[in-house]
Parts: sequence; C-alpha cells; structure tokens
Amino acid sequence: MKSVSAFAVFGLMVAAGFVLAQTADVVLPQDNGPEVIDVSKYPAEIQKAYGLFRTKCSKCHTIARPINTTMSRAEWERYVKRMMHKPNSGISSSDGKKIFDFLIYDQQTRKDPNPGAFFPALSLEEIEKLRQMQRR
Ligand code: HEC
Repeated sequence: MKSVSAFAVFGLMVAAGFVLAQTADVVLPQDNGPEVIDVSKYPAEIQKAYGLFRTKCSKCHTIARPINTTMSRAEWERYVKRMMHKPNSGISSSDGKKIFDFLIYDQQTRKDPNPGAFFPALSLEEIEKLRQMQRR
C-alpha cells in the first residue's frame, strides 16, 4: 500500500509540474507551420542533436515554433540560453550546446537560403500583444 500512495503522490507532482511548464498559452504564427525537418542529409552528430532538440524544445510550446523561426547566430545563442534558464526547462548546458549547434547548422542549411519561408522572431511585446488578443 505504501508504494501505491507514493506512486500517486509522484503522479500528482508530475501533473503539477506539467501544468506549470505548459506556457503554451499563446499561439504564434510559427506554431502553425511544419513540425518536422528532413535531416537525412545532415551530418550524424547533427542528426543526433535533432532528436535532443525535438524532445527538449517541445516541452512548453510546439516544436514547430523553433522549426519555423529564422534568427541570426547571436539571436539563437541568446534564445537557447533564455529557454534553458526558464524554470523547469530541463535543459542542461551540455544539451543546450548540442541543440545550439543543431539550430545553427539548420539555420545555415535550410533557412538562410530561403528566408521568406520562415518567421523572424517576435519581440516579447509582440508576443504579449498576441496573448492579450487571444484571451478575449
Ligand atoms: C520552460 C519552457 C520552455 C522551453 C523548455 C522552451 N521554450 Fe521556447 N519559449 C517559451 C516561452 C514561454 C516563449 C514565449 C516567449 C518568452 O516568454 O520568452 C518561447 C518562445 C520561443 C520562440 C519564439 C521566438 C519569437 O520571439 O518569436 C522560439 C524560437 C523558441 N521559444 C525556441 C525554443 C527552443 C529552440 C527551445 C529548446 C532549446 C525552447 N524554445 C524551449 C518557453 C520554453
């Protein structure tokens, strides 16, 4: 019996953590784009990092969000750090580095040659405006 209640408590904690981590309270235009990348021609290391990226970067919002956002190298660096430092992000600095390498490779290979197909990052003010509009 003891193990059953411990299990129940654990389940509740997971559920609470999940709710807290769910910050997908706003839909950005990027969220509605494609949600997979054909990485079959990417180097093996980058393909591996793609798996990590899919797991880690879909915890709080769609994976389509980063897949369809175009940014400079400096912006990605700032962004990955910002996402890492959000409460309960679950992203270690070594994961962050691998994901950053993936994002830069993908940016240069898939996004830079075709910038019109992707969304530039919105400012926090623009995101907040969308959030207010969607609440109504
Ligand atoms: C802990 C929750 C959380 C995790 C994990 C997370 N994000 Fe986010 N992300 C957010 C929130 C919240 C926003 C909305 C803007 C903000 O508050 O910073 C956001 C916004 C974004 C945007 C939109 C940029 C814009 O301004 O238009 C991108 C791109 C993004 N995240 C990429 C990533 C990547 C890449 C990862 C994995 C390294 C990741 N996110 C992991 C919470 C998270």
